[in-house]
Amino acid sequence: MKVIGFVGSPRKGGNTDRLVEEILAGADDASHETEKVYLADYALTPIDPVYGDELNWTDARQGVADELIDKIVAGDVVVLGSPVYWFSISGLLKLFIDRWALYQRDNQRLRDLTAGKKMVVALAMADADDSYVEAVLAPLRYAANWLKMEWAGQVVATGVAEVGDVVAHEDVLANARALGQSL
Ligand SMILES: Cc1cc2nc3c(=O)[nH]c(=O)nc-3n(C[C@H](O)[C@H](O)[C@H](O)COP(=O)(O)O)c2cc1C
Repeated sequence: MKVIGFVGSPRKGGNTDRLVEEILAGADDASHETEKVYLADYALTPIDPVYGDELNWTDARQGVADELIDKIVAGDVVVLGSPVYWFSISGLLKLFIDRWALYQRDNQRLRDLTAGKKMVVALAMADADDSYVEAVLAPLRYAANWLKMEWAGQVVATGVAEVGDVVAHEDVLANARALGQSL
């Protein structure tokens, strides 16, 4: 299988990056092909859609996002990594996800192309209180469902603020690795 990990934090080498890395390392243990993409490396802009019929929504600046979405379509598992920003996913990841709405290939929308693929989520957050994590995950669960994808699991690092904090959370990293191995 091909496992593609998207890092939705602007901080390379930060906690989200480390979690995604560990999931991909686990997938590599299980002999899957892996790729990591830093969303911050791409000029993702807010969606500016022109609505048409279902297959003809357009946006002149969709191209960069389509290049990335092609990777989801070509792969089997998508790992979405995000820091928790303001009780939600990062704006960077949201910019990317919003653009999924415009994707089309061969007269098909994204949801026609993602059925049966898996989604995995990794979150890093400074709060030790994880009482609102389900609220952060909920839109992603709905998105997976909309895309007919299987929710293959999540890993959440709480109490991590500075770059590298997650390294001390050996149990979380072990869970991330095991999640990758289970794919
Ligand atoms: C704009 C912003 C908003 C944040 N909001 C939250 C929050 O609502 N809850 C929380 O637990 N941490 C919050 N944090 C802290 C980050 O989630 C935390 O530092 C995380 O480890 C960053 O991940 P990274 O190293 O991958 O960038 C926020 C950080 C920033 C910069």
